[in-house]
Formats: sequence, structure tokens, C-alpha cells
Amino acid sequence: MPDCTACVRVAIRLKVNGLTHNPVLLTQTIETLSPRAGQTYVDCTAGLGGHAMAIAPKLGPQGLVILFDLDAKNLASAMANVRSIENAPRVEAIHASFAEVPHRLGAMKIQADLVLADLGFASNQVDDAERGLSFMRDGPLDMRLNPAARLTASELVNTLTEAQLINAIRQFGEDRSAPRIARAIVAARRVAPIQRTSQLAEVIRQAVPRAPSDTIDPATRTFQALRIMVNDELGNLDALLDAVGDAARAAHANRPTWLARGARVALIAFHSLEDRPVKQAFQAMTSTGVATEVGEQPRTATPDEAYANPRSRSAKLRVVQIA
Ligand SMILES: C[S@@+](CC[C@H](N)C(=O)[O-])C[C@H]1O[C@@H](n2cnc3c(N)ncnc32)[C@H](O)[C@@H]1O
Repeated sequence: MPDCTACVRVAIRLKVNGLTHNPVLLTQTIETLSPRAGQTYVDCTAGLGGHAMAIAPKLGPQGLVILFDLDAKNLASAMANVRSIENAPRVEAIHASFAEVPHRLGAMKIQADLVLADLGFASNQVDDAERGLSFMRDGPLDMRLNPAARLTASELVNTLTEAQLINAIRQFGEDRSAPRIARAIVAARRVAPIQRTSQLAEVIRQAVPRAPSDTIDPATRTFQALRIMVNDELGNLDALLDAVGDAARAAHANRPTWLARGARVALIAFHSLEDRPVKQAFQAMTSTGVATEVGEQPRTATPDEAYANPRSRSAKLRVVQIA
């Protein structure tokens, strides 16, 4: 068993705006990626740098950490956090989607030994009402992880046709009440544009009253659907998975590519729309012999972590090693 007391210490020590930051499935990620001195680690979703801070000491000063994030503020925090550790490796930060990882690494002539994508949003983003990600906080109906991007949730809600809204809420929210919600949105926006998170949440709650047996707020799935669309989350994930598959085949055939032979790639998904494509892509790679699974698939939170960090309850970690 690798020594993961260091991971726990990093999790406890990492304070952001005075709050403790708990990277999800941290121990399992370190165990399965198994970082070694001198390796190159690509963190596709730097966030606040929680995972990167725990992995960086194992790479040492000869190692390299490359951080990607759509959110420039998070990227800057992650970079400062990783650089603050003792004997830090070299750190590069790239403000771009992880869909660009192969192209950016290729341009830098760098091969990755370790890759992690911890999908979705970070706790500081959802806690910030101004980002408009939460139906529990009133704010502008925005949802962009990259505030420089063009499309906002408000634009979608106020311009999609009723049929498009039904499809979106069904496909990306997996919500059976999609037709009722879409109809209510279209009726509400005829009166006034829907521009606030609380406005949209109220329209949905009126359309789909919460049954006593419901464990989640009726707005949950529509908010997920809008966030996925605004940030093209599934498109970016598909692009990354395709690139990993292509690189695995290239590495297996001894052709130069952005993943080193023996590289490990870890994905943490939080719902079935993310986990399904990861599982399928990794199975396609292992069944053709260009990669092998690392450990039990998927790895999930221990009861202790699930208790301490509710977000970890739905997290699934899958890891492959390029053959
Ligand atoms: C779950 S958080 C990562 C937390 C991080 N592992 C930590 O321990 O601090 C996800 C981060 O990924 C970023 N993100 C989401 N989609 C992205 C994409 N396509 N490309 C780059 N970053 C993305 C978000 O802005 C957010 O900061």
C-alpha cells in the first residue's frame, strides 16, 4: 500500500478562503496513479489544485505538473497552491479546455505519464451565487465555468424552443418531467425573461411540486442539463476520451504521441452521463489490448469520505494504463 498519510495531511492543510478543501477520492487517485519522481502529471481540471498538491511532492523537483482549467481564477489558485509546496516540481498553467490537452502537449513536445480529469465544477464555483450554478442561491442565470465564454444558461432558457428544452432536459438532466418543465418555462418567459436562478427554480417547483418521497429538489436535473449544455461538458469529455484512445493506439504501435507508454489516465465522474462514456471508452481500449485496467473499476468513496463530503457519494474513479 502506498503511504497516503501525506494525502490526508495535504487535504487538511489546503485552505481556500479559510475553508478546508477536500479533493474527491484523493487516496484512491494517488494509489491508482502511483506517481513517481521525475514524472510529468497533467491535471485536466486543476480546480483549487487539491489533487495536484498531493501528487506534486511525489514527482519532486525533477517532475513537471501541467494544469488546465476553464476558470482562470481557479487555475491561478491551483498554480499558487502547487508552487507553495516544498520541493515543488516545475508547474505550467494552461487556461483552456482539457479537450485541447493533446494539441497543447504536442506543441510543447511533452509526453504525459499521469493524467487526471476530476469532472464537473468545483465547490467554490457552486458556492459563488454570482456564477449562477446553484438553485439554492439567487444569482444571475449564468453557469459558465469560463466567464469569457459566450453562451449563458439565461440565453438557452430564453431562446430554445419548447421542443428543444424538452430534449435538453431529458437528455442532459434525465428528467421524466421535462415536458411539464419546458411548458412552464415557455409560459413564464412570455411574461418576463428568466434571468435569475431563483426565478427558474421557482418556475420548475411550481410546475413539478415536490412529492414527500422526493429526495432531490425538482430543479436539480434542469440545472444539471443547462450546466452541461452551457459548458459543452459531454462534448469536451468525448474529445478527451477520443484523444486518449488515439494516443493509446499510437503508443502501442510505437508511434510518437502525447501519452508515454505505461502512462496512467484517471477519470472521476459524478453522474451516469459522464461515467458511461468513460466506462465504454476504457473498455474499448482494454478489449483491444492497447490499455489495461488499474485496480478495481470503479473506485468509490469510503463510508468515511461519503459522510464527510456528500459530493463524493456519487463519484466514480476509473483508471487505465497505456500498454
Ligand atoms: C471538480 S473541480 C476539480 C477539483 C480539483 N481536482 C481539486 O482538487 O481542487 C473541476 C474543475 O474543472 C474545471 N473544468 C470543468 N470542465 C473543464 C474543461 N472542459 N476543461 C478544463 N477545465 C474544466 C472547472 O472549472 C473546475 O475548476
